[in-house]
Amino acid sequence: MLRNVAGIVCVAARPLRPLRSSRPLRFSRRFLSRALAPGAAVVCALLLGACRQDMQVQPKILPLAESQFFEDGRSARPVVAGTVARGQLRTDELLFTGKSNGADAVQFPFAITRQDLERGRERYNIYCSLCHGASGDGQGMIVQRGFPPPPSYHIDRLRQAPAGHFFDVITNGYGTMFSYASRVNPQDRWRIVAYIRALQLSQNGALADVPVAERQTLAGGAQ
Ligand code: HEC
Repeated sequence: MLRNVAGIVCVAARPLRPLRSSRPLRFSRRFLSRALAPGAAVVCALLLGACRQDMQVQPKILPLAESQFFEDGRSARPVVAGTVARGQLRTDELLFTGKSNGADAVQFPFAITRQDLERGRERYNIYCSLCHGASGDGQGMIVQRGFPPPPSYHIDRLRQAPAGHFFDVITNGYGTMFSYASRVNPQDRWRIVAYIRALQLSQNGALADVPVAERQTLAGGAQ
């Protein structure tokens, strides 16, 4: 069909006969056809070039398409059991599950730097604060609009919960809270946990935690 269309366009692109006119033509017909012919030839070549369909109709099997080649009728072969994509071998139990010997770990899998904490704060504010609140009190905007309220991070049970418990909740979800595994990678989950620890500290600090030089700036002053 494309060929036909191209043919019609090529005919249409041929130099037109001069219109009947009382005024004499300024260019001879021969001149016009000489001037226009190369252009028309290029247009035709381009259109006919588009008619080659070898790439579109090449023999190939689309994803999940049926095939008679294999006995089970599937075109793709199932991956060999135990196949792991390059760079995705997860042997580090602590880093990827938050467990140490099967129990929620108390330690972090890597040393937390200031940069990690800042990244954790950013990720927390993006993914968690909408429900858990910017300070972790469980009164985020979604909760104010009617979502079941999560517990505050500042209750004793969660202050004493091991770091691995928080990692596990982010990874697998908890009750009404869904999993964030697809949105937050394992390293960032640990950074969020570290930031939650910082939030817990911030809400439960004692005067003794504040450097002496800065105590004067607190409301009420230092004793
Ligand atoms: C859409 C709202 C929502 C978001 C977003 C959310 N949570 Fe939750 N979270 C909840 C609710 C609701 C609960 C209480 C679930 C229950 O007890 O059934 C909860 C519970 C928790 C708990 C307490 C588990 C326990 O032992 O009681 C932790 C820790 C937690 N969430 C961490 C996070 C972190 C970290 C993020 C961000 C990665 C996050 N949540 C994002 C709604 C949310």
